[in-house]
Amino acid sequence: MCGIVGFVGEGNAKEVVIEGLKRLEYRGYDSAGIALNIDNRIEVRKHVGEIVNLEKLISDEDFDSNIGIGHTRWATHGAPSDINAHPHVNSDSTVAVVHNGIIENFVELREMLQKDYGIVFRSETDSEVIAHLIGIYNKGDLLDAVYKATSKMRGAYAIAAISSDDPDRIVAVRKDAPLVAGIGKGCNFIASDIPALLKYVREVYLIENDETVVLDKNSIVIYDDNRKVVDRDVFHVTWDSDAAEKEGYEHFMLKEIYEQPKGISDTLHRRIDENGEIKLDGIDISKEELEGLSRIYIVACGTAYHAGLVGKTVIEKYAKIPVEVDVASEFRYRDPFVDDRTLFIAISQSGETLDTLAALREAKRKGARVLSIVNVVGSSVARESDDVFYTWAGPEIAVASTKAYTTQLVCLYLLALYMGRQRGIVDDDTLSRVVSELEALPDKIEYILTKEKDIENIARKIYKNNNVFYIGRGLDCAVAYEGSLKLKEISYINSFAIAAGELKHGTIALMEPGTLVISLATQEKLYEKMISNIVEVQARGAFILGISKVNTKEIEKHADEVIYIPHCIDDVVPVLSVIPLQILAYHIARLRGCNIDKPKNLAKSVTVE
Ligand code: G6P
Repeated sequence: MCGIVGFVGEGNAKEVVIEGLKRLEYRGYDSAGIALNIDNRIEVRKHVGEIVNLEKLISDEDFDSNIGIGHTRWATHGAPSDINAHPHVNSDSTVAVVHNGIIENFVELREMLQKDYGIVFRSETDSEVIAHLIGIYNKGDLLDAVYKATSKMRGAYAIAAISSDDPDRIVAVRKDAPLVAGIGKGCNFIASDIPALLKYVREVYLIENDETVVLDKNSIVIYDDNRKVVDRDVFHVTWDSDAAEKEGYEHFMLKEIYEQPKGISDTLHRRIDENGEIKLDGIDISKEELEGLSRIYIVACGTAYHAGLVGKTVIEKYAKIPVEVDVASEFRYRDPFVDDRTLFIAISQSGETLDTLAALREAKRKGARVLSIVNVVGSSVARESDDVFYTWAGPEIAVASTKAYTTQLVCLYLLALYMGRQRGIVDDDTLSRVVSELEALPDKIEYILTKEKDIENIARKIYKNNNVFYIGRGLDCAVAYEGSLKLKEISYINSFAIAAGELKHGTIALMEPGTLVISLATQEKLYEKMISNIVEVQARGAFILGISKVNTKEIEKHADEVIYIPHCIDDVVPVLSVIPLQILAYHIARLRGCNIDKPKNLAKSVTVE
């Protein structure tokens, strides 16, 4: 996610801003930039890629300034590039702005600025409208101009602005995106996160929603949305910078598990209109093309492949198109049957996984239309696809994927419904039932997260096991694969997932007293059959941890422990049932003293074959 840093006062703004940006690198970014006010002239430097690129760019420039703002960008509107990087300036470069968030009505504002003010836009970003809006209202009072500009904007944002016409102040605003002001001596700071400031200050004001803050070298004044001054207590930071980056969570993985309700809300946001219809930005497949499809391939690696397994079931059910799912490293070497009636769906968090990219190229070469479900905007997979469906999970730092998986699932549900609607298969009732189930997911995940302590207690009982089996039927089987992968990735336990009905064809030979079998039994039609499979392993002395819906208690008779998830329709269960498995894997790995965020031998983005 984007990061903002600003500095005003006694000191070297360039150094402070760059140092602050470096402390925000952990949030993930694709470009960085800085704007400084030098002798009443705004100088902007920005560069795609890492902050070192920006540092090299400005290393020879003797920028002596005591006011500046900087930014690390995580692309949303427009690919990562020098031009799209922040800060953005207005037409005569008297205002510079950095922005974190999304301006929802930017198209409307851009058209107004072009038509009424003849403004020529340089970037593809939504953020550039902010600089121009502030520019047209700026008559030497930056605070007034920012108020007027934000009154026209809709969306979620944090903004910091400087102006050569009001050269000694930074004005910043918060609306649903984090912002803190750091209290220095003879200087003050603004940032989107506390870690950016910890080298310089330990006392901060936490800015709240709809507040505007004005900083000069001697003061920080916070205003509410009626321009009344707000009295705010000073917040004393007691943690070190490492803990601060994780916002108090012990590991990024846990933080990212907790970010899932937000990631899912963001992914659903604006893709369901006021009539409950699915609207997919970035996807442009006509009804005729959908009618003409003979098959779909879903191709991915690791966790993304497991999302694809769920995708197959829901696309076949709602859109009635045959779907094959394959791991990317296999797909491209088996001469798959691909032609111009094939839709190839690539799923990738990073958008840079080499095998997935190579499979995509192979499918394209054979004439398939390529649609990708990707988290990183402007990544290679996204750039090479005909249609891109972004997951809005935000940057995922921990190697073990959590929030990327659940947001990928949400995209697959939306896609299945969209295709089913276009093909006239999904009726109004089905649409509204599934959509309301999707919309209810964030709250249901919040509920599961309140059970973390109970799951940790279960982890204490089982963390010493060296062999673990995950079993399930139907969609539960797909989640079993993902649960098992989570555990082996971070705890190094030998875990194995299998369709419960397949146990008796070999794997049941491994069951002995105390063998841990994590058994998913959430699918209503398959419940009785699943209970039978549980009974089979119970008879061999297995220790059974069941995962089930709250309203099905039969499992308690057979399982040693049960984790319940809230009731929902079977199709959306994977988004909920994976959460306790993520938490369980996390606590088992923690109890075993493993390096959770960076497990041995694994990489977040695998760019080799
Ligand atoms: C690596 C990561 C996994 C991830 C897989 C695919 O193995 O450790 O967490 O699922 O790559 O990555 P992608 O970025 O394509 O989703």
